[in-house]
Amino acid sequence: MLNFNDFIENSIEEIKNEIKDEKAIIALSGGIDSSVCSVLVKNAIGDNLTAIFVDHGLLRERESDEVSKMFKDRLNFKYIDASKEFLEGLKGVTDPEEKRKIIGKIFIDIFEREAGKIQAKFLVQGTIAPDWIESEGKIKSHHNLSLPGGMVLKVVEPIRELYKDEVRVIGRALSLPDKLINRQPFPGPGLAVRIIGEVTKEKLGIVSKADHIVTEEIEKVGLNKDLWQYFAVLTDSNVTGVKGDQRDFGYLVVIRFVTSLDAMTAEVPELPWKIVKTISKKITSEISEVTHVALSVSDKPPSTIEFT
Ligand code: XMP
Repeated sequence: MLNFNDFIENSIEEIKNEIKDEKAIIALSGGIDSSVCSVLVKNAIGDNLTAIFVDHGLLRERESDEVSKMFKDRLNFKYIDASKEFLEGLKGVTDPEEKRKIIGKIFIDIFEREAGKIQAKFLVQGTIAPDWIESEGKIKSHHNLSLPGGMVLKVVEPIRELYKDEVRVIGRALSLPDKLINRQPFPGPGLAVRIIGEVTKEKLGIVSKADHIVTEEIEKVGLNKDLWQYFAVLTDSNVTGVKGDQRDFGYLVVIRFVTSLDAMTAEVPELPWKIVKTISKKITSEISEVTHVALSVSDKPPSTIEFT
């Protein structure tokens, strides 16, 4: 069992010794991992840490405001609206891995720019144990990151040995708000991984509305406490529907609910049918572009949690 007070004290000491009076930078997404890291490192080196929140325009409804509100007075926080840059870069791209690569590259370019402005020497990352175990332990604990423009940053990963439940314990001990601590994991490339095919502004609007309905309904009945993730995926299938007395040809949205301990495996639980039907009806009635909602029932393995 993790002794969180010891962990926090030791981490702060180690970070101080490592970073000293240099400047560090972190990509703060507002998820639990990067938030815990930001606060830990802030406690160690103060405003020498700049927390950069890159709004790639692939976020959930109201997420950008919520994250800014939560951290703007707590950290040396910098908000960057890069949504146009990302959308432009993703134009016409349909392959999931290519989308990820493009998002990663734009992210890094923005980052390098910002790191250069403050002459950062260190990059703090919220890597946790499953992240590197899943990539077969290829990431070394002490490594440098060479950025494409030539900058070399020393990587600091204060929570790399922890699992999600332990990160939550640390988050509570650091007085992060419950809403953030209990927030479901959300992929770095955001809603782009939940849109099959090309990412467009229209599709982002549809998937974020559907996601909002799923989240609202699940949280209303308190099921969020039992679920690891709950979300909607926008497929690129057009399916026939009937709206009013008209035939309609709209999108197929898939809703997915999983339980998990660490995302290495996941199971689809039996949810009360009423909630599934309520979500489905709300999505088709409130989002005019959607004609059909399907429920995903595949566990991980063989499926992954995300669709792409
Ligand atoms: P999969 O889909 O691989 O997801 O079963 C496992 C966990 O990781 C999240 N996920 C990502 N997180 N960048 C991230 O930061 C990504 O590209 C990414 N893809 C998946 C996913 O939401 C789940 O919690």
